[in-house]
Amino acid sequence: MCGIIARIGQGEAADTLLSGLENLEYRGYDSAGIAVQNGSGVKVHKCSGEVADLKSTLDSRPHGNMGIGHTRWSTHGPPTDENAHPHTDMARNVAVVHNGVIDNYDELRADLQAKGHEFESDTDTEVIPHLIAEYRETIGDTEAAVRRAVETLEGSYAIAAIVDGEERVYAARKGSPLVLGLDDEEWFLASDVPAFLDHTEDVIYLEDGDLVVLDPDAYRITDLAGNPVERPVDTVDWDPEDAGKGEYDHYMLKEIHTQPTALSNAIEGRIDDGDAAFEDLSDGAFADVDTVQFVACGTSYHAAMYGGQLLRTAGVRTEVLRASEYDVTSGPVDENTLVVAVTQSGETADTLDAVREATSRGARSLAVTNVVGSTAAREADDAIYIRAGPEVGVAATKTYSSQAVTLALLTQRIAADIPDATPAADREAMFDALADLPRHVETVLETTDAEALAREYFDSESYFFIGNGFGHSVALEGALKFKEITYEHAEGFASGELKHGPLALVTEESPVFAVYTGGDDEKTKTNAIEAQSRGAPIVAVGPEDHPLVDVADAHLSVPDTHPVWAGLLANVQLQLLSYHAAKLLDRPIDKPRNLAKSVTVE
Ligand code: G6P
Repeated sequence: MCGIIARIGQGEAADTLLSGLENLEYRGYDSAGIAVQNGSGVKVHKCSGEVADLKSTLDSRPHGNMGIGHTRWSTHGPPTDENAHPHTDMARNVAVVHNGVIDNYDELRADLQAKGHEFESDTDTEVIPHLIAEYRETIGDTEAAVRRAVETLEGSYAIAAIVDGEERVYAARKGSPLVLGLDDEEWFLASDVPAFLDHTEDVIYLEDGDLVVLDPDAYRITDLAGNPVERPVDTVDWDPEDAGKGEYDHYMLKEIHTQPTALSNAIEGRIDDGDAAFEDLSDGAFADVDTVQFVACGTSYHAAMYGGQLLRTAGVRTEVLRASEYDVTSGPVDENTLVVAVTQSGETADTLDAVREATSRGARSLAVTNVVGSTAAREADDAIYIRAGPEVGVAATKTYSSQAVTLALLTQRIAADIPDATPAADREAMFDALADLPRHVETVLETTDAEALAREYFDSESYFFIGNGFGHSVALEGALKFKEITYEHAEGFASGELKHGPLALVTEESPVFAVYTGGDDEKTKTNAIEAQSRGAPIVAVGPEDHPLVDVADAHLSVPDTHPVWAGLLANVQLQLLSYHAAKLLDRPIDKPRNLAKSVTVE
């Protein structure tokens, strides 16, 4: 977890570091800090809280053309000022920021303490500047000391370090993301591209084992043995404007509203002559596959359920597995198993671990992700991008829609290759309706009653979401979104399960949102009515023409479409419902407590 940044070049560094950190806050916002170096000592400024809190503690910007910064999601030690990064050695000559987890920090700390080092924080990170300082003393050369320190670390890390009196940034990565940004007069290192997207679109995705040295006018990448390493320069195609809030109060609202564009991008060029087509995946690419395992977490898991249902319907043996449970739920895996990692960030530790385990047992892997150059994209045998553009709000919205659509197309592509599978018979109608989906999302955004409904129900005791088939995964996602950002109790169920326990919790204070798609939704209607007869208000969420609408207390309507896509439109209504309820409850919508967008620890 956490976001790191480093910058070196002409002009002052502090403002660039601070605005870069703001764009990384989706990775954590428990504390923030920067360290700037200007030849008269390393100056560290840090505090618990968000980057805005850090800014308010700075009377003026510290002076210096190079520095490092960090925004934290706590793993070792609570979010206090002391535990905030950057951390330094005792003499405050070396400052380090770190994303990842150092597994052997206890042991390293004890060794260093035995040599007289004193520590100020509870973090695993603090051993790193102490190690660098210790090795500088013994070796006499900083680059060699950094190399040696990094070799000593076990676990995962992306680190950036600066040293008093040196106009240079040192960095290394293993298991945590690190991207180098190349501008005309300055270099950047960051956990993710939005940190420096205002400055440059030219990037190098660093690999595990890379060590980087940035001077004001040159950069060098080597392996840990010191051998030069060549990495290609990529150009990212995200517009800097994509990374800002624009006219919206919150990133989440902006991201909900940019779904029509995101969906158009996800679909573009992927339907060819009535079939689903993916760049880089040739015809017959999946001919040997007999089982598909989707692995994912959180919202991505719900998108994977969506795709999984379609693939099963096409007659392909399919499992949708929670990545964090993969080691105990995966069952037999062999070279005919395709493991599909569904991960917006491409960095979720649980998902990466599941894929690594599957591939170690012979499976072939495919990443479905939003982030080019992410670990999932680089480690998997193949990668497909959902093309949603940067998503900053911690609660995933547009990436869910783009994942679901991309996965739906992928399922038809897989089914076309597997000899005994049967791609949807009506896929022409399905694809025609898909072309209309961005327009239908616009209609939902223009006509929604979600705000009025949020106002009516936002002080309820509990919120239940039910649905069948595609509606089930949407109900789960609706409940997850609601609890993430409102902090209210919300649960999603398969419609038929409501009566097997949860009904005991249903009262007139617990509205039930019944998602239906126009497919086989009889169970949703029956179970919604059972809840209604116990006093619960029922909100129908789906197309106009459905018997549930006649019995429901309220309706969040979506345009008529193919049943495969109706759930995605219902989901947009539920996103808006959560957003407006959270706003009425005055929650910090883009940064819900205790959560982070990208969870890079298990
Ligand atoms: C975190 C986020 C969720 C996200 C999940 C999986 O828990 O808070 O919003 O769905 O990680 O993230 P991924 O990047 O793998 O899709």
